[in-house]
Amino acid sequence: MKLGIIGAMDVEVALLKENMTNVTAAKHAWSDCFEGQLCGVDAVVVQCGVGKVNAALCAQILCNVYGVTHLVNTGIAGSLCADLDIGDLVVSRDAIYHDFDITYWGRAIGEVPGMGVTAFPADEMMVQTAFAAAEGVNPGHTRIGRIASGDQFVCNKEKKEKIIADTKAICTEMEGAAIAHTAYRNGVPFVILRAISDKADDSAEMDYPTFEAIAAKRCAQVTMALAQKLQEKTERN
Ligand code: ADE
Repeated sequence: MKLGIIGAMDVEVALLKENMTNVTAAKHAWSDCFEGQLCGVDAVVVQCGVGKVNAALCAQILCNVYGVTHLVNTGIAGSLCADLDIGDLVVSRDAIYHDFDITYWGRAIGEVPGMGVTAFPADEMMVQTAFAAAEGVNPGHTRIGRIASGDQFVCNKEKKEKIIADTKAICTEMEGAAIAHTAYRNGVPFVILRAISDKADDSAEMDYPTFEAIAAKRCAQVTMALAQKLQEKTERN
């Protein structure tokens, strides 16, 4: 197994980088890629930058340049449901674009023509492993569900309600579905792991700076537990 791990911002990958050994760093298309062992697991960690294009191109670099066998996206997200509070964790069942809209031509929101799916399904083994890892770090505060991504920081009630109505997602962020889309087209299993930093409504601008670092660190902790559990599972099979 060779794990590719993508976080958008420095705060989302800092703890992972600190816990890597035998690191070789390289820059590809502006992004710093760190190859080595994360808690003893062969891994490449990359900070992709914010948004869907940055995320997709880094996922493709991990596939083509590093030949990763599994992809994980870690970071923070805005909650889209009342029972997901700040600090809680989300594991993707699947991921969808909330801002891909060719409904004019009879398509559903998020549907990219030619893909055969509207939401990109995460790998079931990785989902269950991520859930177990998350429960180990923060018991009773993890949900498995749909993640909606778009090139937008969601911070008003109307936008939030529209995304919920359009996608039925439980949290929103800015990269996951693009990584899922890339993984899907490369036949690489993936999962997205997110910690809630805000409620994606009028309180988001207040919550976000306070909880960004706490949530990002929690997610990185779960990612490290996930890496170890995935290694154990893939070694067994
Ligand atoms: N990441 C964390 N919170 C977010 C929000 N409210 N909208 C988009 N991305 C986010």
